[in-house]
Amino acid sequence: MTTQTEVKKHLFINNEWKEAVGYKALTSPYSNETIAHVPVANEAEVDEAIEAAYRATKIMASMPAHERASILERLVALLEERSEEAAEIIAKEAAKPITTARDEVKRTIQTYKFAAEEAKRIYGETLPLDAAPSGENRIAYTVHEPIGVIGAITPFNFPMNLVAHKVGPAIATGNTVVLKPASQTPLSSYFLAELLKEAGLPAGALNVVSGSGQLIGDKLVTDDRIAAITFTGSPAVGIGIRNKAGLKRVTLELGSNAAVIIDEDVDLDKVVARCVTGAYSNQGQVCISLQRVYIHERVYDAFVEKFVEATRKVQMGDPLDPQTVVSALISKGDVERSLNWIEEAKQSGAEVVVGGTSTGNILHPTVILSANSSMKVSCQEVFAPIVILNKCQSVEEAIEQVNDSKFGLQAGVYTNNVHTALDAAEKLHVGGVMINDIPTFRVDHMPYGGVKESGTGREGIKYAMEDMMELKLVVFNRN
Ligand code: SIN
Repeated sequence: MTTQTEVKKHLFINNEWKEAVGYKALTSPYSNETIAHVPVANEAEVDEAIEAAYRATKIMASMPAHERASILERLVALLEERSEEAAEIIAKEAAKPITTARDEVKRTIQTYKFAAEEAKRIYGETLPLDAAPSGENRIAYTVHEPIGVIGAITPFNFPMNLVAHKVGPAIATGNTVVLKPASQTPLSSYFLAELLKEAGLPAGALNVVSGSGQLIGDKLVTDDRIAAITFTGSPAVGIGIRNKAGLKRVTLELGSNAAVIIDEDVDLDKVVARCVTGAYSNQGQVCISLQRVYIHERVYDAFVEKFVEATRKVQMGDPLDPQTVVSALISKGDVERSLNWIEEAKQSGAEVVVGGTSTGNILHPTVILSANSSMKVSCQEVFAPIVILNKCQSVEEAIEQVNDSKFGLQAGVYTNNVHTALDAAEKLHVGGVMINDIPTFRVDHMPYGGVKESGTGREGIKYAMEDMMELKLVVFNRN
């Protein structure tokens, strides 16, 4: 039974709110209170969403670029008007501290602005076919056409901005979308659907279906009407998608155990402050969260002392309290998993200098020393506020340690030596190297993606758009 203060959401299919057959109570990861009742779509409902998206492909493909851009601009204006409401939705469903949630909304607005701009910059090229003798007297050019229906599967950690990274480029390129948000954070996606409907997006161009990842994911990945899948989440699920997707385009943004290297010649106070942000922001539930720090032996002791002191000051609490920096992990299961991994590290000889405990679903920010590379806190993605500090003799040795990972999303290097910086940029086997910054740096128009088990393809509007279009060649024979 739904009380008056609880929200009940419906499926969003073909621009209509459709009562679902099944619902579940959505609870706050922080307080465990019910915050909404949300649909659990069944196969027939997902099928209806796919059909709506498929039928809308023609209207979206023939929409001129200026109209696609205008819809996105109107969405930006609506999001700006309702930004505080948007931040509260994120804070409640994801337990993201409200100040961080407000930052996410600001980034989401920028992401859609970039999408509106990029919608007008889809260029082809002319080709000198006469470079081959048999190509003489021909004019050739390329155009980019929308690929069709995009199946977008999004994670809980940035429920608005990582949705924007899929829906923004899809609309900019004239595609249609079936969006499956993370089961803990569907409210942000239903909010987006409401705004896009108001912004004038045609019926069927965006459809939102919440529910079981397995059921909806399998249907999206195997249905022939879907042309491309864009997924952000765990490597295990990503690899499963790739194995089942056949000839569909697949973009995968997966996890990492991101690292930073600290050389001996840097301003430690500045670096420590930035590393604390990188390690604990959104409770460490960020794919580029700072998990491993490799520190030159000459500054190791000083770094550890400052980092531990700063960690002790991190404010924990209610996500709606503006003072809170670290709140609840997304589920009790994640708290238990994190505590088990910390215990495994301790049993194998590592030292937990601060944290290592929990209150409710809040895992206290945890600093671990002497962890070796085979411990889970080092070699797996922790997705929690846990950071390991390691001593190294040189930046070269640190680069080897950073590369000794199955992941490769982003890495950071702090150094004042330009040769060391350039060397690290060349040798680090990751999708992005941040010189004099943490790996957690991201602005929304830069290419973003990884190597190894961190994924395939790139996001960052312009780059995501490339994967959502087909290149078509036109040749005019003047003979
Ligand atoms: C992610 O967790 O992959 C996204 C990080 C970000 O957008 O800052």
